[in-house]
Amino acid sequence: MFFILVLILIAAIGFVNRYLLKKTNGQIWQLPLLDKTAKVLPYSIVPFLILWGLGSLSNLQWLKISGATLTGIILIINLMLLLTLPFSFGTHLLSRIFKPEPQKSPLKLKKSRRMFLKSAAAAAPVFAIGSAGEGFASSFSETRFPQIEMPFKNLPDDLDGIRILHLSDLHLGYYFGLDHLENTLQNAEKYDPDLIAVTGDIADDLGLMTDAMKLIDQLKTPYNKYVIVGNHEHFRGINEAIRRINAGPVPLLFNQNDTFTIGGTKLTIAGVDDPVRMRADITGFLDNAVDIAFNGAAQADFRLLLSHRPRALDVAEKYNIDLTLSGHTHGGQVGFAGRSLWEIINENGYLWGSYQKGNSQLYTSAGMGHWFPFRLNCPLEAPVITLKKA
Ligand SMILES: [Fe+2]
Repeated sequence: MFFILVLILIAAIGFVNRYLLKKTNGQIWQLPLLDKTAKVLPYSIVPFLILWGLGSLSNLQWLKISGATLTGIILIINLMLLLTLPFSFGTHLLSRIFKPEPQKSPLKLKKSRRMFLKSAAAAAPVFAIGSAGEGFASSFSETRFPQIEMPFKNLPDDLDGIRILHLSDLHLGYYFGLDHLENTLQNAEKYDPDLIAVTGDIADDLGLMTDAMKLIDQLKTPYNKYVIVGNHEHFRGINEAIRRINAGPVPLLFNQNDTFTIGGTKLTIAGVDDPVRMRADITGFLDNAVDIAFNGAAQADFRLLLSHRPRALDVAEKYNIDLTLSGHTHGGQVGFAGRSLWEIINENGYLWGSYQKGNSQLYTSAGMGHWFPFRLNCPLEAPVITLKKA
């Protein structure tokens, strides 16, 4: 069903793209070679979708990843064309307005404007394909380790300088295998994390889950590692996902908490389930889940919450949570100046970076994986969060 939907979507996009190309950039885009490419482009996805499907059915990881990657490339090129062609179309219409009238003399200004607009109309799809290439390439770049200092008033001395390696949205099995996680963990070693928090969407191929937990456990830290589930664990089968996480060495916090001491200071960490659905009452769900997760927790000097959804910040202060770590958004996969570009239209979405509400703070990771291979100015990341005295 998923593959049929992708096919219908790409065919529809291809049809619109070809129409706009023909209407927009007359001479250039109606060259036989380009016209044939525009005609074939949307349908070239079919063999790659078949490869992806065969890879999924046969459980051959290399076939699945190759098929998914090539499908992603074709889809991105088509989507980028779809996004820029309306601009091309508009520019092309404007260039007609500036068309010089034959009986009148020079009108050099109008002619040069027309040339400029015609060039812009032709260049937009080329720019789109270039951006698609860059976005695709950077979606496979090495994971970065941004050093995030989070200041807290009255932070106990024992916690000053504690480093948390925050892993989120690995999506193992789509475009990345266990080698991606292994490589990231090896590179993380030099940052000397004190504990590790994994905030969901760990593996889309549940067959990789237990080995992922074993790999995470191999990075030695003075304090524990903890993991929570995301919406993709639900999509793949939450019971099986939990069974496979529990078969590994990293404790799962499924609406549960754990308290341990650092020096003489008590720290409670709790983790919540994911509401899964997009339009559910997410805040209400999280409010209830956080309540259950901290139920019976020992009196602690610092309370840390792991929630796949960053929306948990809206209820965090109510439960005296000092810090929440989240993922889910992938930073919208398009960034601008270190923030998600989509904050323009969703300013309270806590999409990427540090946030504060009252006395409670949040870091939303852009994640170290994805299910759609396109990232612009929003690299893969595994932030190292350092607690600091304000
Ligand atoms: Fe995710």
